[in-house]
Amino acid sequence: MMNYTEMLSRLKALGQEHLLRFYDDLSADKQLTLLKKLGETDFSYLAAFASRMAEVPRGEITPIPVLRIREIEEKRAAYEAAGLRALSEGKAAAVLLAGGSGSRLGHEGPKGTFDIGISRPVFIFQRLIENLSATAARAGRPLTLFIMTSETNDAETRAFFEAHGFFGYDPSFVHFFTQAMAPAVDENGKILMETASRPVSAPNGNGGWLLSMEASGMLDIARREGVEWLNVFSVDNVLQQICDPVFLGATITSGCASGSKVVRKTSPEEKVGVMCLENGRTAVVEYYELSDEMRNAKDENGNYLYYYGVILNYLFRIEDAAAVMHEQMPVHFAHKKIPCIDAEGRQVTPDEPNGWKFEYFIFDLLHELNGCLAFEIDRDREFAPVKNRTGADSPETARALLLAQGISL
Ligand code: UD1
Repeated sequence: MMNYTEMLSRLKALGQEHLLRFYDDLSADKQLTLLKKLGETDFSYLAAFASRMAEVPRGEITPIPVLRIREIEEKRAAYEAAGLRALSEGKAAAVLLAGGSGSRLGHEGPKGTFDIGISRPVFIFQRLIENLSATAARAGRPLTLFIMTSETNDAETRAFFEAHGFFGYDPSFVHFFTQAMAPAVDENGKILMETASRPVSAPNGNGGWLLSMEASGMLDIARREGVEWLNVFSVDNVLQQICDPVFLGATITSGCASGSKVVRKTSPEEKVGVMCLENGRTAVVEYYELSDEMRNAKDENGNYLYYYGVILNYLFRIEDAAAVMHEQMPVHFAHKKIPCIDAEGRQVTPDEPNGWKFEYFIFDLLHELNGCLAFEIDRDREFAPVKNRTGADSPETARALLLAQGISL
């Protein structure tokens, strides 16, 4: 660990020496905590922030061909057989992304611990395990599940699974790992302080999953087990189909290095990232980055050109993804209200955004890979997101979708 003098000179070189502003007022213990936290801080985000104004414009955007439901149905038996064969040979594992803060839902605790039940408890994690178990039963073997948490919710997530007996799943097939954190900065690019002995940090976005799997030894576990495909999915879809044999079989058959489940949007405004091609390579334009022109673009028959949204359920062929994972992925900047202390050490709880958080997005990896099968799903059977407290994508809409599928709540 760096001592005070070494850290000060490092921070001066980065223009961040204010992080040691309160050092002399701290107890010896807290001084060590601060030096340790600063030692763990990834300062590489600062350069990305400094050059954000020089961001390269997007390339030429064109529509992506989609494997439609009708075509999938015609070949369902063959795809399913190929997928089940791969699953029964242990060639696919699942990766649950559960490191996000889930702040929009307003639920205390990890999002997966939210209870969506009506007359009995039905936790989000429980629903995901039920779906995984159903596929495992068809494959004739337990499927390995990696769960990505963050520093903020790791202990609580593990304790929840323990307390509920992993919802009947064999715990020896479940591996937890934590994702990396990123600092947060003020409008001038200075890292904010949460307390006098701790810089503000937040999970570095769902695109951090693969490097964090590597750093935590999970990638080695997967390789040792002979896993070739990872099915990576979000925590918040209570109809999420995990390691779906038809999707897996179709992706393997396609020869693509990745696959993405996509859904036809209900309206141009639906808040899902839109799949497309950028300079001929796979790309996703996140819903809040979508221009009106792209949102409303139609072909000569009046059909929307960019109408397939990602549901955050991807397949990645491990070795292809690992070969490109160290390439610099784009850093996305989110303008947020970030509680912190000011230069005098007073607590600040902002009403307006006061700084920036840094995130990597999982779909930027697709761009680096050779081919991605866009695989259309039936919304009613597979997409029940729980994002907001009320209105669209809320517990209420998700419950209605679950009940319509005959799942008792
Ligand atoms: C996400 C997708 C969006 C897609 C939509 C479908 C991204 C960047 N956005 O939007 O394209 O159309 O889902 O519902 O993929 N997470 C982490 N660590 C983090 C941040 C997030 O593990 O640091 C996890 C969350 O726990 C969750 C998932 O990533 O499982 C998505 O989180 P969120 O950032 O809320 O994305 P959305 O805005 O819902």
